[in-house]
Amino acid sequence: MRQSSLVVVANRLPIDDSMAPDGACEWRRSPGGLVSALHPLLRHTPATWVGWAGGTGPAPALPDVDGVRMHTVALSADDLRDHYEGFANATLWPLYHDSVEQPEYHRRWWEAYQRVNQRFAEATADVAEPGAVVWVQDYHLQLVPGLLRQLRPDLRIGFFLHVPFPPPELFMQLPRRAELLRGMLGADLVGFQRSQAAHNFAQLVAKVLDVPATDRRIAVDDRVVRIGAFPVSIDTVEMAALATRPDVADRAARLRHDLGSPEQVILSVDRMDYTKGIEQRLKAYSELIADGHVKVRDTVLVQVAVPSRERVGQYQILRERVEREVGRINGEFGRVGEPAIHYLTQPFDRAELAALYRVADVMAVTPLRDGMNLVAKEYVAARVDDTGALLLSEFAGAAAELPQAYLVNPHDLEGLKQGLLAALRAGPDDLGARMRAMRAHLHRHDIRAWARSYLSALDDSGSLLTRLSAAD
Ligand code: ADP
Ligand code: F6P
Repeated sequence: MRQSSLVVVANRLPIDDSMAPDGACEWRRSPGGLVSALHPLLRHTPATWVGWAGGTGPAPALPDVDGVRMHTVALSADDLRDHYEGFANATLWPLYHDSVEQPEYHRRWWEAYQRVNQRFAEATADVAEPGAVVWVQDYHLQLVPGLLRQLRPDLRIGFFLHVPFPPPELFMQLPRRAELLRGMLGADLVGFQRSQAAHNFAQLVAKVLDVPATDRRIAVDDRVVRIGAFPVSIDTVEMAALATRPDVADRAARLRHDLGSPEQVILSVDRMDYTKGIEQRLKAYSELIADGHVKVRDTVLVQVAVPSRERVGQYQILRERVEREVGRINGEFGRVGEPAIHYLTQPFDRAELAALYRVADVMAVTPLRDGMNLVAKEYVAARVDDTGALLLSEFAGAAAELPQAYLVNPHDLEGLKQGLLAALRAGPDDLGARMRAMRAHLHRHDIRAWARSYLSALDDSGSLLTRLSAAD
């Protein structure tokens, strides 16, 4: 087995399968932010990415992608149902997002979570060279740091949680709360999106495990585990470059024309997820039309909502409700050739997304709770001429970094309507000042800065970072 000095461990591999021109299945690097962040580093060091390739059954043998080894972990149909759809996405996901939907607890799901985490830990132990740095990602794999430390105490282990970490009163519901906390404490560094999450974690460790903990350090067994906030970001330069491409500008102009050349376009881009506040947003928009504050001829809403986790019951119910509401609003307020809402469920390539961001006068990002929300950051990065308004939920991690956005509480329907109107009516000077400040922030705090700050905290020897700088 070939071994690497850097191993990234995530539920999904950073690749997509697509059809080659000859009809064969071809694997390509997927465009996700984490991949772009780590790619320069991974290319300059013998690196392996451990993850699931999607689907069930035996793990496909995958070729290296841009010099990075792909090490596949197989999931059976039972693992998919009980680990991914069950414990990860019907227990932890709702619990970590303020319980906006009811988390479900099933012993069979917990067994699958342990089993799959063990498999990921063993796969990682196989591919990590002595003393390697291992970076474990997200809520699907919270037990991996602890399991891996038992197998390979020589490794430097990091863990980063991309989603919110809930306050103690919610986390305390979890039947296996102590095991999950102990799993995370297997890491040398536990990273969160916001300092509030690190604080919640420290409080829980003290309460549940009876271990003294501050918001920065926890002494456990004979080790010190450091904790902290490392807000994830995007490839700002890449999105800005995409948005400035002439073909993207042409596409944006065509989109505006196809939308009926309205005075203003409101855009929302979400996974179809109950955390994203889609229903509340639709209600606010339809009430603004009903109240006469918004005229469908002048202002249209484009709602992109890509189906996600489609076999999980709560996601199926949400999709039905959203589609019923879109139908109601269009039926009530649209005219022939003039729908109030343009509703799209397709995945788009990056250039099409950039064109949509360019066309949006107001970007409405109003999740009920979100670890970060990269769409908000992508929109800002794409507004290279400093126009446009970002309407942003206070409950998205991004709000802590982008205070110049129009911040709203999505649970407050009147506040949401007022925020949307303020964003629609703002003058160019105000918008320009806000957008300039947000863009400047994202140029300083891009995905590479995120990876660098996390890895420099994890790898005190500094050798990884030297390679990252050389790669820039
Ligand atoms: P989450 O991680 O909960 O899905 P984020 O907003 O943080 O939410 O990230 C979503 C990512 O998915 C962004 O990079 C965004 O560009 C991408 N995305 C969202 N909708 C689409 C779509 N229809 N087609 C392609 N990419 C999309
Ligand atoms: O933001 C949380 C997250 O799980 C990401 O890691 C992932 O890219 C996204 O949601 C989509 O989720 P899934 O991997 O379940 O399709």
